[in-house]
Amino acid sequence: MNQNQFDLKGHLQHLLTLADLPQKILFGLLDRAEKFRVNPGETPSQYDLLAGKTIVNLFFEPSTRTRTSFELAARRLGAQVITLDMAFSSATKGESLLDTLYTLEAMNADLFVVRHQETGAMENLAQHALPHVHIVNAGEAHVSHPTQGILDVLTIRQHKKNFEKLSVVIVGDIRHSRVARSAIHALTILGTQNIRLAGPAELLPDDLSGEKFTNLDKALEGADVIMMLRIQKERMRSGLIPDEREYARRYGLDITRIKFAKPDVLVMHPGPMNRGVEITSEVADGPRSVVREQVANGVAVRMAVMATLMGK
Ligand code: CP
Repeated sequence: MNQNQFDLKGHLQHLLTLADLPQKILFGLLDRAEKFRVNPGETPSQYDLLAGKTIVNLFFEPSTRTRTSFELAARRLGAQVITLDMAFSSATKGESLLDTLYTLEAMNADLFVVRHQETGAMENLAQHALPHVHIVNAGEAHVSHPTQGILDVLTIRQHKKNFEKLSVVIVGDIRHSRVARSAIHALTILGTQNIRLAGPAELLPDDLSGEKFTNLDKALEGADVIMMLRIQKERMRSGLIPDEREYARRYGLDITRIKFAKPDVLVMHPGPMNRGVEITSEVADGPRSVVREQVANGVAVRMAVMATLMGK
């Protein structure tokens, strides 16, 4: 268990990783997120749980879903939110991550939502933050993306009741995927044994357990859940994958290939999608897709995480 994310009384102070998070805490976050969930077309409720608190978004890598949903979540809880434009911040002049933290702490920021390209950045921030300040990992290198892992299992739980009996297939660029790692952490906490990893051998890392497949059709046999991953060109050295057309032929999910899975399979993708590469539009927008439910759940999960960390 990562002790650095707990305070001296054993309360969750930061959310850095889902690895070995106690099941009770994960269940608490899922149940709480369910209460914050808003259906499409409904007007979101406005809460004052975080009234007077200041939340700062620090995204050193691009984001649409995570950044916007954290911002919406904070506003719906009544907090003040600053999203620093990193392209125009003093980080571009060489200011360090810790000096950025100290500077914004001096302005009475209470919680930092951080996406960073370096492994260890979240631990470093948590170790140096003031005792009352919270750090939330919004994506750390290829290592972890805990709120994505929580929203993924929340989405699955809304459709499938027994995690222990699920067959979950994670497909694609697993080597570079923080989404895959956090999904595996969350599924493992909930008791899922049958986690299959599928993709080109070069993109199946040794550090992850789970049955590995280079033949996608075989991996999909009897699957309850398929998680498609984006090919992360920005983290990839050249030559790791065949060209996109060949990749799509061997590892893309289309309506023919989906038939290897169970008829009620859930198709997930964290976004952003490379349509026509790892997934066809027919599948992404089709009846088995829960991609937009994942997005909706993201706001609710981030509300639950921030309210819980701040003891509200
Ligand atoms: N799923 C996800 O992290 O998407 P963004 O990069 O758009 O935040």
